[in-house]
Amino acid sequence: MNAIAIDGPAASGKSTVGFKVGRSLDFLFFDTGVMYRAVAWAILDKGISSADSEVVGRVAGALPISVNAPSRGESDGRQATIRIGELDVTWSIRSRQVDSIVSVVAANGKVRQELSRKQRLIGLEHGSGAGGKSGIVMAGRDIGTVVLPEAPLKIYLEAPLEERSRRRFRELSERGKAANFTDVQEDMLLRDKIDSERAVAPLRPAPGAHRIQTQGKTVQEVVGRILALAEEVLGVGPVSTGDEDVPFEGSPGNH
Ligand code: CDP
Repeated sequence: MNAIAIDGPAASGKSTVGFKVGRSLDFLFFDTGVMYRAVAWAILDKGISSADSEVVGRVAGALPISVNAPSRGESDGRQATIRIGELDVTWSIRSRQVDSIVSVVAANGKVRQELSRKQRLIGLEHGSGAGGKSGIVMAGRDIGTVVLPEAPLKIYLEAPLEERSRRRFRELSERGKAANFTDVQEDMLLRDKIDSERAVAPLRPAPGAHRIQTQGKTVQEVVGRILALAEEVLGVGPVSTGDEDVPFEGSPGNH
């Protein structure tokens, strides 16, 4: 199976690195966090309390979320276009309001059951090459432990809280979303705590995962390390050579 699982805490570099690894190997890159974010966005939109676990679970089961490669008219830096029905929610699911409730929504067992079942199907389809790509890179919190534990290559990205908060603060500022650094850091600390302490599928390195520290490294260094592991473990090599290298902190990351 050609599958690479990338897990790690908020802003550890999963989507920046995962996207580039996917492009290099001609694997689909799938960021599972967008699905939890879409449910959180819908909860806010409908005025439902994130604490109302039964209703939240029902919403997750019925929500028509789609994730597609951006069309040519959508070239605004997005990695994928996320829709709920016809509505493009690609940027709205990155708001601070969504950030502040998404971990509570993601700790809901019914929500996880619904979303991880869909994610597993996507992983199995593309990991076997049946989806038109040569494999899949899946990023999240529980890919190596729950969604696709049979992925032959598992990565766990990490970076200190201070560094991850700086990255997220910079991303928000670049998008014109004024934020206070301390607030961003506090939100992230709380999200990491909920994500790693929840009863269902808590954030933790999967057995056998390769832990990679991203602080002080360039994006291409981390990508190169994963590509070397992919060659060793999966026997696959790059089909396209990478782009210009950038320091990790200066990378666009999640939008
Ligand atoms: O981009 P960032 O790392 O901040 O977060 P994300 O990957 O978009 O995920 C947002 C939230 O969704 C996380 O804080 C988790 O609560 C949840 N999530 C999860 O529980 N399981 C996953 N496989 C992916 C995300």
